[in-house]
Amino acid sequence: MRAPHDDVLSFEALFGQPPRIRARAPGRVNLIGEHTDYNGGFVLPMAIPQHTEVELAPREDRRVRAYSANIGPAERLGEYALGQEQPGRGWLDYVQGVTRILHDEGHTLRGFDVWLRSDVPAGSGLSSSAALEVALLRGLRETFGLALDDVRIALLGQRVECDFVGAPVGVMDQMASSLAQEGSALFLDARSLRYERVPLPWEVEPLVINSGVTHSHAGGDYRVRRMECERAAALLGVPQLRDLTEQELPRALALPEPLGRRVRHVLTENARVLDAVRALRAVDLASLGPLLYASHASQRDDYEVSVPEIELLVDLARTEPDVLGARLTGGGFGGSVVMLARAGKGAAAAARISARYAEHAGRPATVLVPEPATAT
Ligand code: GLA
Repeated sequence: MRAPHDDVLSFEALFGQPPRIRARAPGRVNLIGEHTDYNGGFVLPMAIPQHTEVELAPREDRRVRAYSANIGPAERLGEYALGQEQPGRGWLDYVQGVTRILHDEGHTLRGFDVWLRSDVPAGSGLSSSAALEVALLRGLRETFGLALDDVRIALLGQRVECDFVGAPVGVMDQMASSLAQEGSALFLDARSLRYERVPLPWEVEPLVINSGVTHSHAGGDYRVRRMECERAAALLGVPQLRDLTEQELPRALALPEPLGRRVRHVLTENARVLDAVRALRAVDLASLGPLLYASHASQRDDYEVSVPEIELLVDLARTEPDVLGARLTGGGFGGSVVMLARAGKGAAAAARISARYAEHAGRPATVLVPEPATAT
């Protein structure tokens, strides 16, 4: 993996000894099921090849020294003492959040040195922060022999976001980073946490194109959407929007604007996830594409999480006969588009789409899947 900065130091050069433990965790792309997780619903993410890796060595004292190869030289190295975690220190908050939450959950740590590197682009809707949390939790599990299974790791990562970083996210990203694989989708019930792996048929391949417009879930828009859903559920008298049936949609649509449309997105999106799982299992390619486009339209019109650059990518996808469907993936307000293409045809279609995007948007798009090195 290429380091983003040439002058990055190795673990050994920095800390004077080789690392004892290495761990990694992938970013994820969500095929369908957006803004359903915090409503108790269904999601269908996959792991992407881009990932975060950590190198670690325990220390005898209670200090944590953390180095990120992705950050400019001035802020690359952060340091703190266990028990003194303070939010507001940028990327270091994810490390601090992990040690704080582990402590709150009764796990015993010593200090450690950690070196981090990621090729999951931050703010791209591909869960760079979940990849960091899960990679670090995996590394600490091994370093200190912590009794944590993969679901527990995901739940702790989510708590880092919600309780320490201040981003009120659902559980999808951390579950995907901890449990999903490339080549099969993780069909997850975000309420019960029951999951199943659904293989992608060999006839299709996923494409992921990053618009280059970045977002942050600690900011207002994601939080507002989540609060709108909670308010709608309270007004409709259900614990979560998952508990509504389609027959109750007319009642929801009578709620004050924009709550009805938010509910409609969640209800129809949950149904689309179930349909997509059926279509994948039946290798029903004719249904998959329209489901992706319908999900996108619902995110754009009912949930209002799209932006012009994302619309451009989805419109360009529609002009490609080998692309079956496309949609905004992740939290929205920028980020990436996921597409399903006919196997073997994706790289060429993605290259054409990103070239035309650069012409029209005046900024480059990055094709992340298929990875450029492996693209045919
Ligand atoms: C972000 C959050 C997830 C999920 C998606 C939207 O990625 O981290 O929990 O809510 O947005 O589907």
